Amino acid sequence: MNAPAQRSRFGYPLLSWYFMRVSGVLMLVLVLGHLGVMHYLHAPSQTDSAFVAARWSQLFWLTFDWMLLLVALLHGLAGVQAVLNDYLHRARARRAVAAVIGLVALLFFGLGSSAILSFDPQRLQSGQGPLSAQAWLVPALDLLLAVLATLTYLAVLAVLVVFAARRRRGLPVGPWSFAGQWAWALHRLTGLAIVAFLLVHILDILLLPLAPDLYNRTIASYASPYLIPMEIALVGAILYHAFNGVRLMLIEFGSRSLKLRQAGLFFGVLATTAILLLPSIVVLLRAAG
Ligand code: HEM
Ligand code: HEM
Repeated sequence: MNAPAQRSRFGYPLLSWYFMRVSGVLMLVLVLGHLGVMHYLHAPSQTDSAFVAARWSQLFWLTFDWMLLLVALLHGLAGVQAVLNDYLHRARARRAVAAVIGLVALLFFGLGSSAILSFDPQRLQSGQGPLSAQAWLVPALDLLLAVLATLTYLAVLAVLVVFAARRRRGLPVGPWSFAGQWAWALHRLTGLAIVAFLLVHILDILLLPLAPDLYNRTIASYASPYLIPMEIALVGAILYHAFNGVRLMLIEFGSRSLKLRQAGLFFGVLATTAILLLPSIVVLLRAAG
């Protein structure tokens, strides 16, 4: 995203620039808290309907998930709008995209809220729901996850190929300086990837009130060997995006000496991401094996 001055030059409200930072700080608690439960204390394949019934019986977790839903959708989709605005220069095109994004936000917020508000612990325990006969929903959601996984692997491959090609040509620094453009491109790529996952995730969670037995079958596929690298990449993407978001805010609002340490901070972000990723890989592989 550009600096605030450039944003307002293109008519992009300065308010959105601040919103991304304030919601980013909220996301630190909400998404990292959620990830801590789903990827560190438990493995994704263990989060079946009985697990959710126990969690959502507590008002704290119901409220926590509802806030996560609201803030993640607003932050993520405002981010998508900001990315698209960098490529769309006509006011009419920007307005059209903003309208579509607004509708997507409303639709997914409605779907996600309905899963939370219609929570019925007995139905989750019994496993049956009004859509339990629609067995095709399982392969449909599995296919969506497989498409996400394939896109993730292609994106990782593309980043590695670009990186290797620049190194081979002796261009580690230059138009793509490590601390600047690589950090920015990775922040953008990870932000967009997390949004894509979030939308599929909300559809998956919707099975909880509609067909808990089918939900349990989709959750079981998280242990499949094709999806495990995607789950590792997702945790890595969230950790990187979160810490790099903090790095950005430190540079923007921090002292002059922090601004001069951009490159060091970037390597700090990469190292912290790698170190914190390790325990989640152990949890995932243990649950799969
Ligand atoms: C975990 C804590 C998070 C923090 C601290 C954070 C922080 C930030 C910040 C500061 C920006 C603005 C970057 C800029 O102006 O260049 C941003 C952009 C963005 N974030 Fe987050 N974020 C977090 C979580 C998320 C999540 C969960 C999603 C997806 C649902 C997401 C999606 C995006 C997108 C798509 C952008 C736009 C990227 C761009 O303009 O290049 N973020 N984030
Ligand atoms: C593979 C990683 C993940 C797993 C296994 C997972 C698992 C779950 C589970 C079991 C629930 C049901 C409620 C609960 O027990 O808290 C849930 C809800 C939710 N998760 Fe995740 N989660 C993952 C990643 C994420 C990420 C990255 C985000 C945000 C970007 C996210 C956002 C949400 C939201 C908003 C809800 C409430 C959904 C709704 O009301 O429809 N989750 N998640």
